[in-house]
Amino acid sequence: MADAPANLFMTIPHPAPTSADMRNAAIADPGFGKVFSDHMVSIDYTDGKGWHNASVGPRVPISLDPAASVLHYAQEIFEGMKAYRQADGSLSLFRPEANAARFNASATRMAMPTLPEDLFVAAVREQVRIDRDWFPTVEGGSLYLRPFMFATEAFLGVRPALEYKFLVIASPAGNYFKSGSPAVSIWISDYSRAAPGGTGAAKTGGNYAASLIPTAEAFSRGHDQVLFLDAVEHKWVEELGGMNLFFVFDDGSMVTPPLTGTILPGITRDSLLQLAREEGLTVREEPYSIDQWRADAASGKLVETMACGTAAVVTAVGHVAGPDGEFTIGSGGPGQLTTRLREKLVGIQRGAIADTHGWVMQVD
Ligand code: PLP
Ligand code: COI
Repeated sequence: MADAPANLFMTIPHPAPTSADMRNAAIADPGFGKVFSDHMVSIDYTDGKGWHNASVGPRVPISLDPAASVLHYAQEIFEGMKAYRQADGSLSLFRPEANAARFNASATRMAMPTLPEDLFVAAVREQVRIDRDWFPTVEGGSLYLRPFMFATEAFLGVRPALEYKFLVIASPAGNYFKSGSPAVSIWISDYSRAAPGGTGAAKTGGNYAASLIPTAEAFSRGHDQVLFLDAVEHKWVEELGGMNLFFVFDDGSMVTPPLTGTILPGITRDSLLQLAREEGLTVREEPYSIDQWRADAASGKLVETMACGTAAVVTAVGHVAGPDGEFTIGSGGPGQLTTRLREKLVGIQRGAIADTHGWVMQVD
């Protein structure tokens, strides 16, 4: 993909950047989603005019008309991706074109304008460059990037808005899970996240709003994530609140739920599918029921379960609990394949393992 012209983004100087001392304290152990860098990228869209007003400048509050459509009808989409500091000090992104493509698929589902993929990637690169001092120093740290778009038009009729804003913000990130445990515990929700024909495959805020009550319930019961079953039969395992799932069996094969429109097509999921198949493993994309999962865990046929996503990377699921009781997977800790695939993926992302797929994009 060609680099966007250097002058594409007007640079607005920051009047009062964070001091080096304060920044260093903030990035030493940032956790997830709490610390934010100094800058943001911004691009506006108006029907008939298209994308314009591209800038990179201070991260500041945004002012919106109280009638802005996003506040009433939730026309909003986002992406989640990470930039890494490689062993040689250079900065890189992982499969940013895949995020650009998914962003546009989400935009299309939410009746929003698409953003040219090279403009999306240029915006993210610009953000990484300007916040290059914000990479966390903690082991396993990265710069989490949040590109997002929302409807800004002041209009209360129900139709797709005519004006939008696209922003990119950055957040130095360490471990997503508060527990820091090598294996996480999940709670099976009675609530549904997404129905056939709905917006489950789009990365839109409403899907996450629907997940908040069950997520709060999972947390209050001491679990790390919520598990959603399908909305029709309440039988088939779909995904977690912010991660896809893989099941590993004692014959070395794996299963992951298929992309039928109700789950997010994860880029980590797709990467693991490719890495596992290249290793010669059999991976089936097929429905897997909660009853089968429980039975397979009890019989020992199921040996590992992994949760995967940008924020979570690849993390073992150790315990599963729900209204009908709970079960443990394997020893309750990370199994061999989870550990191996995680090391391979992280190795590629951070430049320790050769990138034979063209997944890693250097930023500078
Ligand atoms: N499923 C949901 C609901 C998510 O929010 C995420 C995170 O983005 C994923 C799956 C994993 O997607 P990815 O691997 O692209 O981060
Ligand atoms: C991600 O993994 O990037 C996500 O978006 C998951 C969650 C933080 C919403």
